[in-house]
Amino acid sequence: MHHIAKLILASSLLFAPIANAQTPPAAFAPGVEASIAQVLPHMLAWRRDFHEHPELSYEEVRTARVVAAHLRALHLDEVRTGVAVTGVVGVLRGGRPGPVIALRADMDALPVTEEVDLPFASRVRGRYNGQDVGIMHACGHDTHVAVLMATASVLAERRAELAGTVIFVFQPSEEGAPPGGLGGARRMLAEHVFGDLHPEAIFGLHAWPQASGTVKIMSGPFMAGSDRLRISVIGRQTHGAQPHRGIDPIVISSQIINALQTIPSRQMDAVGSPVIVTIGSIHGGVRYNIIPDRVEMEGTIRYLNPETRDDLYARVRRTVDDIAASAGATAEVSIESNAIPVVNPPELTARARAALARMLGEGSVQGGAPGMVAEDFAFFQQAVPGVFFYYGVNPPGVSPTEAAPNHSPRFFVHEPALETALRAMLAVTLDRVGPAQP
Ligand code: NI
Repeated sequence: MHHIAKLILASSLLFAPIANAQTPPAAFAPGVEASIAQVLPHMLAWRRDFHEHPELSYEEVRTARVVAAHLRALHLDEVRTGVAVTGVVGVLRGGRPGPVIALRADMDALPVTEEVDLPFASRVRGRYNGQDVGIMHACGHDTHVAVLMATASVLAERRAELAGTVIFVFQPSEEGAPPGGLGGARRMLAEHVFGDLHPEAIFGLHAWPQASGTVKIMSGPFMAGSDRLRISVIGRQTHGAQPHRGIDPIVISSQIINALQTIPSRQMDAVGSPVIVTIGSIHGGVRYNIIPDRVEMEGTIRYLNPETRDDLYARVRRTVDDIAASAGATAEVSIESNAIPVVNPPELTARARAALARMLGEGSVQGGAPGMVAEDFAFFQQAVPGVFFYYGVNPPGVSPTEAAPNHSPRFFVHEPALETALRAMLAVTLDRVGPAQP
């Protein structure tokens, strides 16, 4: 995928604005700045507490309890729990009329055993897929929850001045849908997360290994669609020495695996429609001299451009079916969508970017290339115009390539970065519902 990413980077650099004057960050109104200063130590304490007590998808019971208690203590106008099992929704109505804005944080951790040496490192273990596993906030969702709680604190204190309504969405189960079920974003939407409110925009952010103090925001496709691919190749069992008496699904599977790789490399536009087809597991056969009846394969499909999805699926199905048919075998293909691409709408993104540049400083706002990881925030964007962006969590001096990636047991968040995330959330929110900007 590196070569494609570089191509996109190279092409997008042509259009990237030249960073000239390094405008300094602006301050929020004095009252807001005072609230920020006051909430900072609490935000770090909340984050450390969540980090030490991570919970897997749809098991965020303790996290949800802490969040709900906080929102109730702020006397929000509405606090709903149990939305999509463990999700929490808070509604803050400002003292003046204005638009409805939604802010989202995901709450779940991963089946990863922490290897970071921290006083608040996770020692929690649990069950995942029938296995005993360590549990860790290896994707930084602990920070997302703490930052949104702090955002709620600051906004609740300024509620009389706010022109509009803010919905705080604490989402469970971002890390993947349970088999046959819905992930957190889709399930919250199915359960009418916004009630009778109609947000005109939703914002979300994610911890990412880039320089602390920076954010990354771009319009258009930003993160990939992610699908689970299952293929069964059905042949006919025979003796290993008499292949002509049967139909060999193992040889057919090897042809299919190779042919699938020609879809990204030979059939799709490498720059306009980056695609990955990965086969992650293959099972067939029980004995060295028996050609088996069938082979089962599983994998993932990633794509950035939503418009090419149907065409991509058709190519995958055609490749599998036609290769199987050419050998007299049959095949079954199932493609299940985990997430659709995160696509940031240009106008909304431009306005959010301007707000971030104003409040963080132009030099702190990065663009760049999209990536092939996925985020189910995309489903909120289907329902409400939404912008998703990254905030950097690397300690000073650690480059993006040196830093442990998300989902690594060594994933590390430099804590001062949380203030940037808080200021970023406040910047995009107050741009919509705040008192008139200078
Ligand atoms: Ni994540």
